[in-house]
Amino acid sequence: MSEVIAASPVPQVAADDNRLLRVQDITKYFPVRRGFLQRVVGYVKAVDGVSVDVERGETVGLVGESGCGKSTLGRTILRLIEPTSGRIEFDGKEFTDLPSRSLKPFRAQMQMIFQDPIGSLNPRMSVGDIVGEGLLVHGLKNRAEREKRVRETLDRVGLRPEYTNRYPHEFSGGQRQRIGIARALVTRPKLIVADEPVSALDVSIQSQVLNLLVELKREFNLTYIFVAHNLAVVAYISDRVAVMYLGKIVELADAKALYESPKHPYTESLLTAIPHADPEVHHERTKLEGDVPSPFNPPSGCHFRTRCPLARAKGTVNGICAEQEPPLEQKAQGHLFPAPRSTPAPPWPAPTCWVGSRTWFWSPPSMVVSAGPPSRSAPAP
Ligand SMILES: Nc1ncnc2c1ncn2[C@@H]1O[C@H](COP(=O)(O)OP(=O)(O)O)[C@@H](O)[C@H]1O
Ligand code: SF4
Ligand SMILES: [Mg+2]
Repeated sequence: MSEVIAASPVPQVAADDNRLLRVQDITKYFPVRRGFLQRVVGYVKAVDGVSVDVERGETVGLVGESGCGKSTLGRTILRLIEPTSGRIEFDGKEFTDLPSRSLKPFRAQMQMIFQDPIGSLNPRMSVGDIVGEGLLVHGLKNRAEREKRVRETLDRVGLRPEYTNRYPHEFSGGQRQRIGIARALVTRPKLIVADEPVSALDVSIQSQVLNLLVELKREFNLTYIFVAHNLAVVAYISDRVAVMYLGKIVELADAKALYESPKHPYTESLLTAIPHADPEVHHERTKLEGDVPSPFNPPSGCHFRTRCPLARAKGTVNGICAEQEPPLEQKAQGHLFPAPRSTPAPPWPAPTCWVGSRTWFWSPPSMVVSAGPPSRSAPAP
């Protein structure tokens, strides 16, 4: 189905006419300055070599713990912040080197929905002005026409058209997020980056907003990059999911494949951390210890090694895992992960990694991270 470009250095697959977005080896390093002279003493590598293609009409989920670079990647793709290196192609056009003044035509086609529905809306602007601002910026000077478009859009996201004269503080969290969605939708974009659009909402409201996003995608033929730290939410809405850790994609696959058969130990950990409503469903928990290391000073080799249960069980934390970053490989149906290079494969589906194939093929059950495939039903947000 979808074309996948692996995170660097995996080679790209052939071009695809249906591709809307191509991100190639994007990095975003924030300089860290210290001292009286504010000298640059290092860099926070928020995004560190990410490559991915997104097809028209597709939803690609970005998931990972807080601080792994999801928002930075989303903003960099839209050039709301400038990438340090790498290339972005949007709708067949090179987008990275355009001067700021030439970005305007793209801005209408690439929109963002923000996590914080309160902070992202100007409290001094009416809903009509907030939603209509994009139309004005993009040249719709006719006030009546603009108001008509705003009212239509408000109606479409489930808000009353007469709300145009009200202010953000008069609305609930869910309604404010609908205003944010209307603001993104009003210019009829092709791509929307939704940065944790439901994370700040009550659980009961989350599914309403998710369902709205699904409906809008169908109706307006939208393409989404959907950012969240909750893998259940991401798997629910996404066609494909990219799992990020410390600025890099560590696994990328169709949502179903990722959910049913995660390959990377980190993905497995995220999945087993999802609470399950059915107590009969038994999860061998792949426990993650400690916090995400600082992207200012990430661990050598595989960035995940300091927390990797697989490396701990195998005693490779300070061995091969510290020496080399595991290269990603693209497997069947575009499933991308650090795959074992040789056979035999482990005798049961278990988190796997190329390191394993070089030092051991499989482990006795007492040592493996997951002693079998945990049974999972369809994810629910
Ligand atoms: N403007 C900035 N200046 C310096 N560091 C930043 C800036 N924005 C984000 N970062 C750092 O980049 C890393 C990734 O941040 P972010 O993209 O917000 O992660 P996520 O969205 O996954 O929580 C974090 O360590 C964060 O502190
Ligand atoms: S390279 Fe080592 S630390 Fe990284 S995922 Fe594989 S086993 Fe874990
Ligand atoms: Mg974020």
